[in-house]
Amino acid sequence: MRALTMEPLKAGAVAVREVPDPVPGEGELLVRGIAVGVCGTDREIIAGDYGWAPPGRDLLVLGHESLGRVVSAPGGSGFIEGDLVAGVVRRPDPEPCGACARGQFDMCRNGKYTERGIKEIDGFASELWTVEADYAVAVDARLESVGMLIEPASVLAKAWDQIERVGGRSWFEPRRLLVTGAGPIGLLGALMGVQRGLDVHVVDLATDGPKPAAVEALGATYHSEPAAEVAKALTADIVIEATGVGQVVFDAMRNTAAYGIVCLTGVSTGGHSIGVDAGAVNREIVLENDVVIGTVNANVGHYEAAAKALLAADLAWLEGLITRRVPLGDFAEALEARPGDVKVVVTLD
Ligand code: BGC
Repeated sequence: MRALTMEPLKAGAVAVREVPDPVPGEGELLVRGIAVGVCGTDREIIAGDYGWAPPGRDLLVLGHESLGRVVSAPGGSGFIEGDLVAGVVRRPDPEPCGACARGQFDMCRNGKYTERGIKEIDGFASELWTVEADYAVAVDARLESVGMLIEPASVLAKAWDQIERVGGRSWFEPRRLLVTGAGPIGLLGALMGVQRGLDVHVVDLATDGPKPAAVEALGATYHSEPAAEVAKALTADIVIEATGVGQVVFDAMRNTAAYGIVCLTGVSTGGHSIGVDAGAVNREIVLENDVVIGTVNANVGHYEAAAKALLAADLAWLEGLITRRVPLGDFAEALEARPGDVKVVVTLD
């Protein structure tokens, strides 16, 4: 079968290669790939800056935002041939830390977790793949065109879970959400904010194209003025930061309402210094009981919450997030950043 493979840490060593068909182990599903989404992490791996091949091998199969159709499933797994399915990305360390041992592998403490398509286990960018039934997420047939958004949505379902747990430490009735960055993560975060009945605002540099329209279609407000100005004018109760840009992160932290929560989801590239009045930031956080949370990855419960959130969303809106669909053979085109891109997917069927 064909798979999108990469030799990690060798910039550009990415190619579609013939690899052996996978053979499902005990308790595993065999799945025909439909599509994978491409995200910033994939681009980082392909640039040679991130990623690990499975032990003893040079090549890693890429792809962690998956969608496929079950070819075969073990009896009692809850899946049958023809079901749509997405695969969970992370697996706990075989000798798990306390969090991994409790199914909270998204909160792994020792860093020895593995991740499909990222860290030491093959991903889902192949014509066939296997997945353990316990790490397979059922995708409703109505989500066939957009099911590969479940993985990025799971990252937001986890972010919201964190925000609500942290908010719940005292009286918490948030009204206003600011999302910085209108990429797929920002837009899915905004969707879940609207689903919670919040007054949602999104700030991004784009002044035209699909991003402003997607925000407005949610009934949220789009801003393209500088993030600092927008954050200051809004003093939101919750900020979901989805740019990873240092200046925007600090602009968000400095302009929340009292008891504000800033949830950081963007992975920054290092090496960009900015001047920060650290004392003033500290004072504001202390005097307002503010919290800054970092969040990554998602556990099985978050995938299920994500699947529900997508099902409750407008399908045409979700389809609008997928701005290009590129066949596996033309994957290089999927990796190009083109104006107007939100989410690009590679089709496998
Ligand atoms: C993925 C996460 C993963 C993270 C770090 C993200 O792109 O969505 O599942 O944990 O990269 O590897």
